Amino acid sequence: MFPTSRYRRLRQSEAIRSLVRETILSPNDFLVPLFVVEGKNIKQEIASMPGYFRLSLDNLDKEIHELWKMGLKSVLLFVKVEDALKDNEGKEALNPDGLMQRAIKTVKNAVPDMLVMTDVALDPFSIYGHDGIVKNGKITNDETISVLAKMSVSHAQAGADFVAPSDMMDGRILGIRQALDAQKLIDTGIMSYSAKYASAFYGPFRDALDSAPGFGDKKTYQMDFSNRTEAVKETQADIDEGADIVMVKPGLCYLDIVRDVKNSVNVPVAVYQVSGEYSMLKAAAERGWLDHDAVMLEQLIAIKRAGADIIASYFAKEVARLF
Ligand code: PBG
Repeated sequence: MFPTSRYRRLRQSEAIRSLVRETILSPNDFLVPLFVVEGKNIKQEIASMPGYFRLSLDNLDKEIHELWKMGLKSVLLFVKVEDALKDNEGKEALNPDGLMQRAIKTVKNAVPDMLVMTDVALDPFSIYGHDGIVKNGKITNDETISVLAKMSVSHAQAGADFVAPSDMMDGRILGIRQALDAQKLIDTGIMSYSAKYASAFYGPFRDALDSAPGFGDKKTYQMDFSNRTEAVKETQADIDEGADIVMVKPGLCYLDIVRDVKNSVNVPVAVYQVSGEYSMLKAAAERGWLDHDAVMLEQLIAIKRAGADIIASYFAKEVARLF
């Protein structure tokens, strides 16, 4: 009690503050999302994500070397699929010579020790921009699972270390695990987007991949952002089905969920700081309204402090530069 207790004693200098600091970021915390496109020597800036690019495979190769040198050892791959290759069933997603499969090999050829995680969902491949097969205006569950399972096997056979289903169909983790095991792909891990909310913060990402839903929205499969209780239920179900890592997404507006999940599970918890979170800070910093690096660090520390063991972030490289 005051005056014997004076809390400012532990804040008097950077030396004492750093000695008692509870949460510290390092490159080991980060998973780097990367957007891949067809073509040669392409590095297209995404209009709504200043400083972030779509890369062709040759530039992906360069990027991987650069990330590795910075201590960033894990990437999460997304592909932008050409319109002519889109359909309702995601056939192109299973093409052994598809862009994702070639991207996986590109990363592994560049730096064999780089950990490769791949996005598993139909939206970039779908003429409807939905994460599942559409029938009579509805997003099917069980039919979608069988494609996601085949897609996961295809990614694993191309060399992916982890598959990351981002679709929110019920039961897909079990379907994927069984399909991988049936092919003896027992070492391939699953990072499940287990508590993924129907969020307006995904807008810039959908620009990046040209994957916005063609009709309706994603509220019949992604979670209602008014709800907290079901996040733990969803996450536990994915763990029971075989998820090795679980995820809460988006990040900053969902830190209560991150902590709930962290307190309830005993597997690593990933948090995806999504595109809209990146874009908001870029926009405010461009106007001089916020100090970019200071706010970036504050937000990422908050995500880790809330309970994230892994952070997927478009800021990964910028943070790594500060270490
Ligand atoms: C789609 C997918 C989305 C993101 C990752 N995978 C968008 C969506 O659900 O519409 C969003 C990532 C971001 O906004 O950075 N399966």
